[in-house]
Amino acid sequence: MFHSRRILIGISGGIAAYKVCEVVSTLAKAGAEVRVILTEGATQFIAPLTFATLSRQPAYTDREFWQPVHHRPLHIELGEWAEVFLIAPLTANTLAKLAYGLADNLLTNTVLASACPILLAPAMNTEMWQQQTVQRNWQQLLSDPRYQALHPNSGILACDRVGTGRMAEPVEILSGLESLLQTGGTQDLQGKQILISTGGTREHFDPVRFIGNPSTGKMGIALAQAALHRGATVTLVHAPIETGLLALVPQARLVPVISADEMHKAMLTYLPEADWIIMAAAVADVRPADYHAEKLPKRSLPSSLSLASVPDIVADLSQHKQPHQKLIGFAAQTGDILPPAQEKLQRKNLDAIVANPIDLPNSGFGSDQNQAIFLDAHSRKQVIPPCSKLALAHQLFDFVQS
Ligand code: C5P
Repeated sequence: MFHSRRILIGISGGIAAYKVCEVVSTLAKAGAEVRVILTEGATQFIAPLTFATLSRQPAYTDREFWQPVHHRPLHIELGEWAEVFLIAPLTANTLAKLAYGLADNLLTNTVLASACPILLAPAMNTEMWQQQTVQRNWQQLLSDPRYQALHPNSGILACDRVGTGRMAEPVEILSGLESLLQTGGTQDLQGKQILISTGGTREHFDPVRFIGNPSTGKMGIALAQAALHRGATVTLVHAPIETGLLALVPQARLVPVISADEMHKAMLTYLPEADWIIMAAAVADVRPADYHAEKLPKRSLPSSLSLASVPDIVADLSQHKQPHQKLIGFAAQTGDILPPAQEKLQRKNLDAIVANPIDLPNSGFGSDQNQAIFLDAHSRKQVIPPCSKLALAHQLFDFVQS
């Protein structure tokens, strides 16, 4: 995804600058071309040499501002060169300058000399972030479609306060950049409510033993990220998923569930308000017929288990959905993935389905990559070669809307 992409990174003066080292390092390892600009304040926290070494390129400061490259001003060269521009951390001062179109250093001049989408990751003390003036500047900036927000998180800050103002984590920044490169920053899902299920349900036999599957929830998280990056409001009904993944979607409304029954109830609860519903969860198709509230000793375990069925959630959602709502399912398959997906699309009355091979390298449970064939109710078909799960999510949204 990042290979040979031209990514410009502006760093203003905040301690969160240290987190950008990881971003630059990951991008450089992935083959991206990275250029870094530091404000005077940023150089108080971190040396240009750090970024030059990580990016294998010179890192620029105001000292280089007046040094032309190929007889052209540096800010024009950099501004025209960039495909996407990340400013992280964005301080209250640089935010204010951008909101007013001021250009008094290399970073702010380069912003005005560029036309590419800009991803902003503010970082500051909670009191500063909550000032009316700062909030006004932030809203003013975001009213320009060129700017995309990576909202600050809540947590412990360098000033020892707990509150909003922590810069987005490197993983969030990297997915934000990936989405921006994939979509050019479109906000085409603004105003849409998207309900997504993810994870693998667990059907418990006693408090510690269950029937389940190896789903990690990565595909559903990627769908939630892609939807949020395109401006949607997201409700994520998640069965147990890999630890840490929820940190990637701090803006989503989270509804934790364990079993298929709980997921069924949650999905029906949130169905009426949703425009699109995506069932990416791996629902266990059966559950133990009996549940023991106390853990059974090993010697008392039965030698066979009688099973009961669980509700087919997506089939039930399709019974209850309104005509304006779009319902999308997944079909995780081995072997020939098309016929069973086609059959599920019709039988479950879906608007679209993602036929997803789970027996190929670079796809399926736990992988960061995926590949698929999209099918819809109008007999359209699109083959998606191996790509990141986030890229697949964006292509699914393009497919559903086209
Ligand atoms: O398990 P199966 O291959 O039939 O799953 C196809 C689709 O149906 C998926 O979107 C899955 O989330 C959904 N499903 C469901 N309830 C079940 C089983 C599957 O909603 N009990």
